[in-house]
Amino acid sequence: MSVCVYIYIYIYIYSSILSCLFPVGTGPLSMAVLLQSPHAFLVILLLLLYWVGVQSIPDPRQREMLIKLETSMQTGGQLQLTDAEQKLDAVLFKMKQRESQAGAFPPAVHFFKARELIRASPIFSLLQRMPKGAVLHVHDFSIVDAEWLVKNVTYRPHCYMCYTDNHSVRFIFSSLSPKPLSHCSPWILLENQRAKMGNSTDFDRSITAYLTLFTEKDPDTVYPNQSVIWGAFEQAFLAVWGLVTYTPVFRDYYYQGLTQFYMDNVMYLEVRAMLPELYELDGSTHDRSWTLKTYQDVTVQFTKENPDFFGARIIFTTHRAANITSMTETVMEAIKLQRDFPDIMAGFDLVGEEDKGRPLWYFRDALSLPAEMGVTLPFFFHAGETDLEGTEVDQNLLDGLRLNTSRIGHGFAINRHPVAKDLSRKKGVALEVCPISNQVLKLVKDLQNHPAAALMAEGHPLVICSDDPSLFGASGLSYDFYEAFVGFGGLRSNIGTLKQLAINSIRFSSLTPPQQDIALAIWQRRWDHFVSEKVF
Ligand SMILES: *[C@@H]1O[C@H](CO)[C@@H](O)[C@H](O)[C@H]1NC(C)=O
Ligand SMILES: *[C@@H]1O[C@H](CO)[C@@H](O)[C@H](O)[C@H]1NC(C)=O
Ligand SMILES: *[C@@H]1O[C@H](CO)[C@@H](O)[C@H](O)[C@H]1NC(C)=O
Ligand SMILES: *[C@@H]1O[C@H](CO)[C@@H](O)[C@H](O)[C@H]1NC(C)=O
Ligand SMILES: *[C@@H]1O[C@H](CO)[C@@H](O)[C@H](O)[C@H]1NC(C)=O
Ligand SMILES: *[C@@H]1O[C@H](CO)[C@@H](O)[C@H](O)[C@H]1NC(C)=O
Ligand SMILES: [Zn+2]
Repeated sequence: MSVCVYIYIYIYIYSSILSCLFPVGTGPLSMAVLLQSPHAFLVILLLLLYWVGVQSIPDPRQREMLIKLETSMQTGGQLQLTDAEQKLDAVLFKMKQRESQAGAFPPAVHFFKARELIRASPIFSLLQRMPKGAVLHVHDFSIVDAEWLVKNVTYRPHCYMCYTDNHSVRFIFSSLSPKPLSHCSPWILLENQRAKMGNSTDFDRSITAYLTLFTEKDPDTVYPNQSVIWGAFEQAFLAVWGLVTYTPVFRDYYYQGLTQFYMDNVMYLEVRAMLPELYELDGSTHDRSWTLKTYQDVTVQFTKENPDFFGARIIFTTHRAANITSMTETVMEAIKLQRDFPDIMAGFDLVGEEDKGRPLWYFRDALSLPAEMGVTLPFFFHAGETDLEGTEVDQNLLDGLRLNTSRIGHGFAINRHPVAKDLSRKKGVALEVCPISNQVLKLVKDLQNHPAAALMAEGHPLVICSDDPSLFGASGLSYDFYEAFVGFGGLRSNIGTLKQLAINSIRFSSLTPPQQDIALAIWQRRWDHFVSEKVF
């Protein structure tokens, strides 16, 4: 092999490192820029070392250097660690070694079975205490655990429930006896039902099971394939719907959601929200802008009560099963909401099972409207949440990037799309990686094999998110941080990785740069406190 090949490899590696250091707007790096860079010296040194290396037995110094080079490329590999951080890192490394040698390694096990193991892990309790910055991908009606819905919401007066033909339930609050639903049993007033039973512990447990996918049984038997689990997912979602779209519950639910993330040391959220019409006890309803206004009011109230919480913004979402006419109308409505509520509204996205829904390309005319009209409507598209390589849906990654998406929801398939991956990196379009979601929805079994392992190793722009924690039996963000850090981060990811992930979550948010600076300053204060605390 000629020397030129090695020169090429090193230039490539260094351009990767530099574009990872300066991900936004760096563009292709020329040779001249590289040689002016502070790394040029190291490049030449490595070339010489390699030149010697190819003609004799491997040189340990060279090996050391290559290992260092790889480490410097990973997420957080460029951060200078303080003494306190290094001390904590040493502790973390020992904890990780112990955890990976234990019998059942949680990231290799389905989350439903791993949850108890994770709860017992000292790394997990550390991650719970860690200030994690922001969560940029969670859905409106999956931010509060199902137990709270049962214990708090279904105990309120006027709550009715019916059983559907296919193993689900529906709820409604109503002052009068509600109209019967087709494919559902007659309505039961829960107050009366519980009074009749005396002890409702078992009954409550049975209701809880309808509001989450979590099960004590073997998850692979209950949910043998993707279509079964997506079916159950949509049913659980519909079951929750009637509870949370009742106006007084909606407010309390969102407030409780903010509380649960705040308690998990998350300081800012970007929530994907359907903005449904909310209803009152007499059946009257409010429109979308009223729902958005309610989000804004509750966010302001919560932030006032908790000064080190930074706030939340809403990404308006609509189902990808829509037709072109209704998508066009929804996009026009989104443009109007974005104009009327610029503070709370972050942008727009499509939701629902990607494999069964319509691809972004199908909606290209509707989604190009904002650009054509010269108005702002930032996009935050789910894309690449699929195993179906080469299908129309599999093009969502490239199409999303062409439509100027600000981030990519999941991007699970990105390693199979070198052009999309390169664009995402060069444009600084971060991936929202949701490990537990991908495992539960059957894209990957063992989280050590998650595609983000490779992405983290090369410092690709990404953030860790929890998608639908309550449906997966999780809560907040720490469980997903655990899977990322211990699972696909392996022994190599360290305190720098965690720090970078937290910083990323603020830097890749929809906040303006000055807002990001304020949020980062608050985060930094809490981080410094966190790393200097005694671990044991
Ligand atoms: C339900 O939650 C609300 C709001 O957090 C709280 O005021 C109320 O006391 C709770 N009710 C029950 C029965 O837990
Ligand atoms: C209600 O039933 C559950 C189990 O079915 C039992 O554990 C619990 O102690 C009972 N509660 C009361 C107050 O009797
Ligand atoms: C998924 O599993 C269900 C239940 O076992 C089965 O009826 C269905 O055909 C399966 N679907 C696919 C796509 O394999
Ligand atoms: C359950 O029933 C509803 C209404 O009949 C139907 O639309 C839906 O597809 C069914 N879901 C499953 C998982 O069978
Ligand atoms: C499109 O969807 C809307 C709303 O779901 C529906 O009312 C309308 O009939 C659909 N139009 C066509 C052409 O299918
Ligand atoms: C994407 O951004 C480019 C450059 O700012 C602009 O020319 C183009 O119209 C945008 N496209 C869409 C669909 O927003
Ligand atoms: Zn999602």
